[in-house]
Amino acid sequence: MPVDLNEPWTIRDVEIPTRLVLAPMAGVSVQAFRRQGRRFGAGLVCSEMVSVAGIQHRNERTLGYLRVAADEHPLAIQIFGSDPHAMAEAARMVEAAGADIVDINFGCPVKKVTKTGAGASLLDEPDRAARVVAAVAEATRLPVSVKMRRGTANGSRDCLAVGPRLVEAGAASLTLHPRSAKQMYTGSADHSLTAELVSLVDVPVVASGDIGSRARAQAVLATTGASAVMVGRAAQGNPWALAEIMGAGSEPSRAEIVAELLFFVRETVRELGETRATGFLKKFYGWYLGRGRFPKPFKQELVTLPTIDEVETRLLAAAPEAHEVLERLEAELPDVDEVLLDSLPISLYGGG
Ligand SMILES: Cc1cc2nc3c(=O)[nH]c(=O)nc-3n(C[C@H](O)[C@H](O)[C@H](O)COP(=O)(O)O)c2cc1C
Repeated sequence: MPVDLNEPWTIRDVEIPTRLVLAPMAGVSVQAFRRQGRRFGAGLVCSEMVSVAGIQHRNERTLGYLRVAADEHPLAIQIFGSDPHAMAEAARMVEAAGADIVDINFGCPVKKVTKTGAGASLLDEPDRAARVVAAVAEATRLPVSVKMRRGTANGSRDCLAVGPRLVEAGAASLTLHPRSAKQMYTGSADHSLTAELVSLVDVPVVASGDIGSRARAQAVLATTGASAVMVGRAAQGNPWALAEIMGAGSEPSRAEIVAELLFFVRETVRELGETRATGFLKKFYGWYLGRGRFPKPFKQELVTLPTIDEVETRLLAAAPEAHEVLERLEAELPDVDEVLLDSLPISLYGGG
């Protein structure tokens, strides 16, 4: 019997309506990406990793990552750091920001992060990792989840020893991306480890890595006993992959592709401001228009256009029917009652 992806599940008291989770991705998981993920079937969405040091220093850009829109619940905000006290303080701010789950990053393999003792390097320090989870769980009423890799070294099985300790320390859910940190994104995710982890803990486990189709999602759920699958790269510029996984997919038309891209562009400009959005969005043009959907020179041209207005004009000229789809998307946009930063506790700004 295939697992029903539409069956709700819970992380402690947080109900998640589908078994599809949108992965946290630095430089990708902006609000527009998360809300789009929800529209296309993800039951849970995650912020990209937010630096605890940035929160402590009240870095304006970091605080921007704590913005939560009314239509993206349930939402996990992910934090990374290595100091239990600082992580606990960050967790309180995540709760104040309106997230439903505090997620801890023990998976980031990037040097800039691991050399500070954060991310995947905590898998080499299980005592500290457990102290971090305990401090965070103590600091917040929200459920705490942890996302981790299999270990730091190739072939490592450390996740199987560390995972149960983190649950003992208070983790209400674990997500496993079963590659080593050393592997980065090479090789493949070994979900036999996910199955082993599921058998060792009594909290929901989410399987992450190389899941991009309904067939693969069903196979991973059936063979691992995981509660949900997490999808990352397959959803970049391709929310239709999420719909396909949910069993509701059809190939998008050119108009739909252009409309979704334009909607994403507009939302991102609203979120990041035009200057930041202009650079941020460039990678998305290739992701949306690639996969043989539009000719290469067209993608290349978009990247060179200096303003968002020009990008819009050029895209609409290539697919005029996108106008209508875009209007529909804009009309369906709920009145968003954003929890803006000014409504967060004053301490967020360090007083006054
Ligand atoms: C560009 C990029 C950024 C990522 N950033 C994060 C992050 O901030 N936090 C995290 O836990 N994982 C991060 N990941 C890992 C993904 O969440 C996911 O575990 C991994 O990509 C494997 O899943 P996939 O094969 O579906 O992409 C990132 C991955 C990519 C490709």
